[in-house]
Amino acid sequence: MMEIDFVRSRFIKHFDGKTGNVYASPGRINLIGEHTDYNGGFVFPGAVDKGVMAEMRANGTEDTVMAYAIDLKDRVDFHLNDPAGPKASWARYIYGIALEMKKLGVPVKGFNIAFAGDVPLGAGMSSSAAMESCFACGLNDIFGDNKVSQWDMVLAGQATEHNYCGVNCGIMDQFASVFGKAGCLMRLDCRSREFEYFPFKPDGYRLVLLDSVVKHQLAGSPYNDRRNSCENVVKHIQAKHPEGKFETLRDCTWEQLEEVKAEVGEEDYKRAKFVLGEKDRVLGVCDALNEGDYEKVGELMYQTHEGLSKDYEVSCEELDFLNDIAKECGVTGSRIMGGGFGGCTINLVRNDLYKQFVATAKQKFNEKYGHEPKVYDVVIGDGSRKLC
Ligand code: GLA
Repeated sequence: MMEIDFVRSRFIKHFDGKTGNVYASPGRINLIGEHTDYNGGFVFPGAVDKGVMAEMRANGTEDTVMAYAIDLKDRVDFHLNDPAGPKASWARYIYGIALEMKKLGVPVKGFNIAFAGDVPLGAGMSSSAAMESCFACGLNDIFGDNKVSQWDMVLAGQATEHNYCGVNCGIMDQFASVFGKAGCLMRLDCRSREFEYFPFKPDGYRLVLLDSVVKHQLAGSPYNDRRNSCENVVKHIQAKHPEGKFETLRDCTWEQLEEVKAEVGEEDYKRAKFVLGEKDRVLGVCDALNEGDYEKVGELMYQTHEGLSKDYEVSCEELDFLNDIAKECGVTGSRIMGGGFGGCTINLVRNDLYKQFVATAKQKFNEKYGHEPKVYDVVIGDGSRKLC
């Protein structure tokens, strides 16, 4: 995590010299359970020790927000009552979350904000959820007496993506950012919203992310198309079974999927097939973790990669290449992480293989693509909080 003074010194310099309160929220990893959240399935994320830090203070105006993005050295001022909102994509997260918090009854007025982040952008570690939950935490504290619940802040973050940023995401990222706990992964049932903390101390293994540095950006990406495919399959199954209630693919069986195969077409069929399989794999990982069987966890991670690449088609050449290297090096588990279309692979690797794997991946990737992947050792950290 960054130093508070780094953010504070900019906040003081760019506004009126006064200090505010400082809040932090993390990015996330996800061990397994990809593209299952908006299908009512299970996910297995954890917060990381990297995230977004913001200093915020009410500025006494009715609706003027003065915002400074420290990393971009970009200043944008806007009005909460302006229905169009700001154009800069980073400022739309502030605008969006402020309006969503207002909908929840928080009397948000004008404020100043400066923020910075150390979650690698576009790496699939949810820098956007880190922003949303950090700003929500600040607004809840400054204007709302902290009356908005953690779950409502999760949903406000998700609504910000849907209503102001054009990404019809699920709830995994915002959930992980708000509820994260150091040393623990969390298994969340995205339909019932029940979750459980799983202390994650894999004896003899570690998690490492390899970032292909292929830009991952979900706005304008085929992410929403994938979601539409899943919803289309559900619609067809519902039409065939009017007696049942099918809200998401979570409610559908393999047999029902087979029944609509011809109608929905090969592409949507493959998407749904991946999702049904992924739901089972998350449960398989839970059992394996309970038994301490990390080799089994790894096997399921490879299966997920295969499905994300061939059936869900959200991988890319560079990520498949990194996955192949992991396999060749004997790494226990490896797969693309997050929404896809670039970003990182997450790798479960035995301690004794770690050095050799990272060195080989760097060398081979560099030979092929002219640059090394970035390497992030995973440290599982805490969720959104006020720092001072
Ligand atoms: C992105 C979305 C999440 C989730 C993942 C894929 O990170 O924001 O809601 O759908 O992709 O698992």
